Amino acid sequence: MTDTAVGIDAIEIHAGKLKLDLPETFAPAMGDDPGKYTEGLGLYASSLPDTYEDIVTMGANAAHRLMERKGLEPAHVGRIDVATESAFDHSKPVSTYIAGCLEQVFDGDFHHANKGERKFACVAGTQSIDDAYNWIRAGRHRGRAALVVATDTALYARDDPGEATQGAGAVAMLIDEDPDLVELSTEQGYGSADETDFLKPQQQFPSVDGKRSMAVYLARMREALVDYESVGGNIHPEDFRLGPFHTPFPGMVRKAGVLAYRHITRDTDIEAELADGIGRQPRPEAFDDDGAYMDALGEYTDALKETDRYREWYDDTIDPTLDLSREVGNWYTGSVHVARVSGLAALAEAGEAAAGERLLVGSYGSGAQAEIHVETVQDGWLEEIDALNVGYQLASRYDLSFPEYEDVHDAHNFDEETGVEEFTAPDGEFVFDGWGRMGERKYRYVE
Ligand code: CAA
Repeated sequence: MTDTAVGIDAIEIHAGKLKLDLPETFAPAMGDDPGKYTEGLGLYASSLPDTYEDIVTMGANAAHRLMERKGLEPAHVGRIDVATESAFDHSKPVSTYIAGCLEQVFDGDFHHANKGERKFACVAGTQSIDDAYNWIRAGRHRGRAALVVATDTALYARDDPGEATQGAGAVAMLIDEDPDLVELSTEQGYGSADETDFLKPQQQFPSVDGKRSMAVYLARMREALVDYESVGGNIHPEDFRLGPFHTPFPGMVRKAGVLAYRHITRDTDIEAELADGIGRQPRPEAFDDDGAYMDALGEYTDALKETDRYREWYDDTIDPTLDLSREVGNWYTGSVHVARVSGLAALAEAGEAAAGERLLVGSYGSGAQAEIHVETVQDGWLEEIDALNVGYQLASRYDLSFPEYEDVHDAHNFDEETGVEEFTAPDGEFVFDGWGRMGERKYRYVE
């Protein structure tokens, strides 16, 4: 058992190399007002995978960059966990494919690393970090670090309402002792229930009850927050510099933000200060029935959303975590980790001294489970954030026309046979290289 700080030592992002412009390209083709995307959902573009990209190439490319930048060799890594809800193999975990890729470019191998694959929709990335944390704290790691890769091609069936929120990309994270980026709290809160809102029973694209999935997101997040407070103590808005939350689309987090704020300001100086303008929060004991209480709560929340106090908190704490998501869409398991990077990158850009600041991190997976924990920003955070090249990647994406988008969607559809050519030229990265004799996907590093 070790008492040393454990957390995220390094992080790298690989975005799909194609871009679908939502207001300019997708909205007109769907006959929608662009405002539905930019204002309603809060999205401007989706990152999509080129024809030679998939969950393995994106994950391996992010991990490769991370290992090179940190000067790591395979022997330094004792564990590789991949979180994904886009797996193409029901038996052989994606981590073995990624390890195979990395062994093409590094000396040595990962033969003594424990590899696995985590599944619980989008919360699996955070669960993999959890597994790594527990492995290190238990002292079973032999001084080695864990590589966690959250990688997804978040594609929906054509014409599904979820098509607007698509995305593809991978986040690789190194979990280690004495981390450079953030330390993880031991305290966690969970909100978990058997829900049927988003699932993929033996199918590539999800069955989604979109509106219900939003209600379930809010309910489970609230449950997790209450559970966190039962071990970590009551949360006050000023305790946290940023609140990175799972971001299926920024509009979802906008809805969660005001509910979270209402909860964490209850019985605080902030509720008292706001009382002159909007009254105090309704209490259930003051109402004869649940319906009247819920109506009063809804009215209070609408008024709260319009207060300067709330807007300032939202603009400082939540909005910066959404910048990347607006440009890439949903990356499922990677999404909350993109939100963390986005928020920290905004602090770096503003020249803020963030070491020692705390983050309230809310992860969520459909089906459904939310998890809340706290992270403390470490001294090496700025170097880690400055080393990212995600801005360059996003600016270099190939901008698809609508017919090209249709081709790309078909190219990634397991049920379609297509001969769609790639749109970009691979450069210093892993690519999908066809099929092996047992139906396995094969990969090659292109110099
Ligand atoms: N100008 C401004 N806003 C507009 C607008 C316009 N012209 N037109 C519409 N809007 C607003 C709508 O009012 C709505 O906002 P509110 O919810 O605040 O009212 C927003 O834009 C979206 O419009 P619709 O509700 O009409 O959109 P939709 O019904 O076509 O689909 C969706 C929305 C249900 C979220 C759909 O995209 C979907 O199914 N997505 C996949 C499921 C999902 O992401 N769920 C989130 C929770 S589950 C989760 O988090 C796990 C995960 O990653 C999947």
